[in-house]
Amino acid sequence: MMPEMHSTISSTEEHAGLIGRPRLAVLDSGVGGLPYLHWVYREFPAASYLYLADTAAFPYGNRGADELTGLVLSRIDCLQAEFQPDLYLIACNTASVVALESLRKQFNVPFVGVVPAVKPAAIKSRKRRIGIIATSGTVVNTYTNRLIAEFAADCTVVRYAGQDIVDFVERSYARSGPDDRLNAVREACAYFIDQDVDSLVLGCTHFLHLRSEFQTVLGPEIEVVDSVEGVGRQVLRKLRELPVEASGNPTYRIYTTGFGAEASYRDFSRIYGAEYQGALPCP
Ligand code: DGL
Repeated sequence: MMPEMHSTISSTEEHAGLIGRPRLAVLDSGVGGLPYLHWVYREFPAASYLYLADTAAFPYGNRGADELTGLVLSRIDCLQAEFQPDLYLIACNTASVVALESLRKQFNVPFVGVVPAVKPAAIKSRKRRIGIIATSGTVVNTYTNRLIAEFAADCTVVRYAGQDIVDFVERSYARSGPDDRLNAVREACAYFIDQDVDSLVLGCTHFLHLRSEFQTVLGPEIEVVDSVEGVGRQVLRKLRELPVEASGNPTYRIYTTGFGAEASYRDFSRIYGAEYQGALPCP
């Protein structure tokens, strides 16, 4: 097997001037935010997109709130210094429910977050029984509790922490076959079928890569609900309010924060038609 090339960006500052505006920066712990970014990119390819997968800190799902908030603030600091984006998308439920408030206090740039789509799931549920599958950090969280109290107070809400599925998507998905993907979601789906829910919220962005597998295994009686289009439209509206700058080029790039996942990120970049740029030197 060929050894993997380790590519580093010595200084992206010099490239930043060549990147067109408006500029959206997207942060997730890994590949979870890509379906969100891709939705926006397809609608508005004239903007510039910088995706940071925080592979050095993956997974976010079982970190404490203070630790995760500190990490996310430092990643945004890094993106600010390198690219000065006009808008951020925190394409991670765990980071959003934990750190969004702190981010908005700390930085004078607009942030859009991704939180579990409890509201649409509750609207759709006839049985008033909904499921949420997310990371451990999102499943047990005061923001998630508030969403349930506000939008699904009359529903029974069944929660499931699917950290092993997050790991599968991040580490194995790109080179997995159809059976591996179906097998990855079987145990969780069996739980929700047994709990008799009729809608299931994909409350972790990594699970979007397995959306059709969830739907297949759950069957037609349970509707899978996600926030891709809702969040995508919100980002698009904000991006379209910003001026398009003719001096730079539209850019669609994926960066990581650590080494060791190059092969997987090359595969994902190919799947999503983005340029893989290697590791961004964040402290
Ligand atoms: N994709 C992230 C989310 O939406 C977190 C996955 C992880 O790093 O645990 O919650």
